[in-house]
Amino acid sequence: MGRLQRLIDEPVPLRFLALRFLDRRFNFLGYPTKLNLGAIERPHYGHCLLKAAELARKLGQGRITAIEFGVAGGNGLLSLERHAELVRQETGIGINIYGFDSGTGMPPPRDYRDMPYMWQQGYFAMEADKLRARLHAARLVLGPVEQTVRDFCSQENPPPIGFVAFDLDYYSSTASALTLFDANSRHFLPRVACYFDDVVGDIDWAYNEFTGELLAIKDFNRSHEDVKLARVNGLRFVGGRLPRAWHEQIFVAHFFRHADYDRPISEVSQHPLDPPAGGERLLEAED
Ligand SMILES: C[S@@+](CC[C@H](N)C(=O)[O-])C[C@H]1O[C@@H](n2cnc3c(N)ncnc32)[C@H](O)[C@@H]1O
Repeated sequence: MGRLQRLIDEPVPLRFLALRFLDRRFNFLGYPTKLNLGAIERPHYGHCLLKAAELARKLGQGRITAIEFGVAGGNGLLSLERHAELVRQETGIGINIYGFDSGTGMPPPRDYRDMPYMWQQGYFAMEADKLRARLHAARLVLGPVEQTVRDFCSQENPPPIGFVAFDLDYYSSTASALTLFDANSRHFLPRVACYFDDVVGDIDWAYNEFTGELLAIKDFNRSHEDVKLARVNGLRFVGGRLPRAWHEQIFVAHFFRHADYDRPISEVSQHPLDPPAGGERLLEAED
């Protein structure tokens, strides 16, 4: 029913459906194509991880870190683990995974900016032992994120962080999680892929820049000169991919003062003049 509902909500062109169907049967598509077709669960997690791993490889890093803020039951963290393995097979880059959560569900909302009309204390409680038994490599960091994020980088010293999924729902919790980016820039790739779960929705949810995650992003940008969170323009037009809501949920944290921020990563360095073609003569004739 979930899959059928998603198809009704976000219609999928027949050619994509046919490819997905065939791929489910014969598993012939490569991982990046599966992501572009939406032929795999949570493609936004996979796409961000893949891009982070590719960037790491270009910069000579062998391992990166991915974080999910807001774990709840743990479906997202388990999905992150599955994608991390596929990305490792694709790129050779290993991925450390951390999941931050209170462990006891949502704390009380602080004020209207936490959008209490959407979320309340105790929502999304976790069964930590059950989840731990299912996790392979991801580590749970339990407690109020305001506290657990504070010395995370200096104490844990993880490989450079390349992807962060923000799904803490509240303005206050997201603002706290964003203090992660105040750590020394050596703990990050120069550009960190970020997914914000609660920025796209209907009129009754009314996500907006004055409350919730979007306000936390705006405040962060107002108070930081050298690190900025910016949406990626035109993500849905790249690579013949199927336009989806998640394309509007991806931001990049730019660490402008990072030692590697300016290092070239582009594979294109020349645009040589094309050889003369018949078409040019045609244009001349039409003039
Ligand atoms: C919507 S759920 C996360 C869902 C999960 N990402 C998934 O895809 O299955 C939000 C989670 O954020 C956690 N959370 C919210 N505010 C928090 C805070 N201040 N400290 C720690 N955890 C918090 C809650 O415990 C809750 O489990």
